[in-house]
Amino acid sequence: MKHQLHPLEINPKTGEPFLRLAAPHQNIILTPPRQGDQSVLIQHMNDPAIYEWIEGPPTPYLPEHADFWIQFVKGESDATLEYLRKSAKDFPNGPLQFVDANPVRYLREVKENGADVLIGDVNFRRSPFEEVLDEGERKRLQEDNARKQAGDPTIQYAVGDWLAASHHGRGIMTAAIGLLMTAWGIPRMGVHHVVAHTFAGNIGSNRVFEKNGFVNRGLFDNGKTVRGEKKVMTLLEWTKNETHY
Ligand SMILES: CC(C)(COP(=O)(O)OP(=O)(O)OC[C@H]1O[C@@H](n2cnc3c(N)ncnc32)[C@H](O)[C@@H]1OP(=O)(O)O)[C@@H](O)C(=O)NCCC(=O)NCCS
Repeated sequence: MKHQLHPLEINPKTGEPFLRLAAPHQNIILTPPRQGDQSVLIQHMNDPAIYEWIEGPPTPYLPEHADFWIQFVKGESDATLEYLRKSAKDFPNGPLQFVDANPVRYLREVKENGADVLIGDVNFRRSPFEEVLDEGERKRLQEDNARKQAGDPTIQYAVGDWLAASHHGRGIMTAAIGLLMTAWGIPRMGVHHVVAHTFAGNIGSNRVFEKNGFVNRGLFDNGKTVRGEKKVMTLLEWTKNETHY
């Protein structure tokens, strides 16, 4: 019988669960967020090569933003892991229980001396339905989607990600998203429908999704403004039956 944390591996020294990218990126692992990630996060969230392409970070990105964020994402990961550990007791003979998030989301590069450095983030969450232009309809869909039980094949998920600029263009995020889809999203979240909303012109991000079987559905404009700038977006869409996974 597979353990409820399957296929996460466990670091024998720290007890932390992780997933390892395949070669040639085997020195990169995905882990939960940690207390102490704040200082590296602050560096990357103040880098325009990253923040200009994502909606969330306030600029300038201050220590209190990082403290709030690490507490929030660590809390989410901890809750998912806690649920799975409890499920091991509640369902000792299986089946594996579905969850609605990936508890390992922070990419870390493991150095030769065993120390690791935070280099990125990738996460699945319930979709904000940005592609739905009518605000009332969008809100209704968000609420319907949020009410669904983990594992419901009709849930629409959305992926968000960023990677340290020093590591761009080496195929790392393509590999990380592929791994999360095949090792976690499909078997442990039961994902059938995943979208990504990228800002217009984010060719690298669109390619990452396309290389993972997402279909580029083109541009849409829902009137969004981010840090004072109007943003047109691209919808990328993955559905379980249409792709190579
Ligand atoms: C988007 C991002 C996560 C991509 O990560 P990455 O590890 O560099 O991506 P990969 O190396 O796996 O793939 C990038 C692909 O885009 C291509 N690409 C990148 N910039 C490009 C450009 N300006 N024109 C054409 N292709 C481009 C690369 O050639 C590669 O495709 P290929 O393998 O077919 O050659 C990273 O650039 C990033 O963090 N950007 C800032 C934040 C961000 O945009 N997040 C996504 C929000 S939706």
